Amino acid sequence: MSRPTPDKTIRALHQVYASDSPEQASAIYDGWSEEYEEHMRGVGYTHPAMVASMLTRYQPPGSAPVLDAGTGTGIMGEILTALGYSNILGFDASEGMLGRAAAKDIYQDLRPGRLGERLDYDDDCFAATVASGVFTQGHAPLDGLDELVRVTRPDGHIVFSIARTYLGDNFETKARALERAGKWRRIDTSRRYNSTPFADEALISQAFAFAAM
Ligand SMILES: C[S@@+](CC[C@H](N)C(=O)[O-])C[C@H]1O[C@@H](n2cnc3c(N)ncnc32)[C@H](O)[C@@H]1O
Repeated sequence: MSRPTPDKTIRALHQVYASDSPEQASAIYDGWSEEYEEHMRGVGYTHPAMVASMLTRYQPPGSAPVLDAGTGTGIMGEILTALGYSNILGFDASEGMLGRAAAKDIYQDLRPGRLGERLDYDDDCFAATVASGVFTQGHAPLDGLDELVRVTRPDGHIVFSIARTYLGDNFETKARALERAGKWRRIDTSRRYNSTPFADEALISQAFAFAAM
């Protein structure tokens, strides 16, 4: 039986992983935006479920506002809305992906933004910040976490997935540096999981929750 969708999905992700510049990565997502959700459904994409379910452990529905960093087409916004969260805002480096999210009419605000650069939000303005499928090769650098910490209120939560290329020393060094600087405190770490279980290639990740300080 042929499985064209998983193949296309993994190919598109590898194109982004191998991109030469953030602009090129965004252009790939712009071109992929129309088919992105169909492709991700085909591989059984698990990041949004992992991140949303971990958020519900620490930040009850009703906490607002919530920032969805690297919004993509808004899968996270749909899940969070269904779980009872409201006042969800988002940003993404791809205008094409943001356009798809905007069409769902569930975000209070959507704007272009890039992790790795300063974000266009005030300090301490979100009750919770989530990022699903964004901290990986060719996407957001781990230093993008600094800005998520800056915009999250003390005692708010930052919940996100980290893909295999950053797991281990890279992520642990970054997490400890922010902890030593008194910026956040780790409160939860998932087991490793496959973010594309229906694809031939396993993309292994973990989800994390930190309390902002
Ligand atoms: C795999 S998709 C995940 C989208 C959505 N969060 C989800 O789970 O469906 C990765 C998204 O991150 C965005 N992205 C990549 N690098 C980024 C960066 N440095 N800052 C913000 N968004 C970025 C891409 O444009 C794309 O929409």
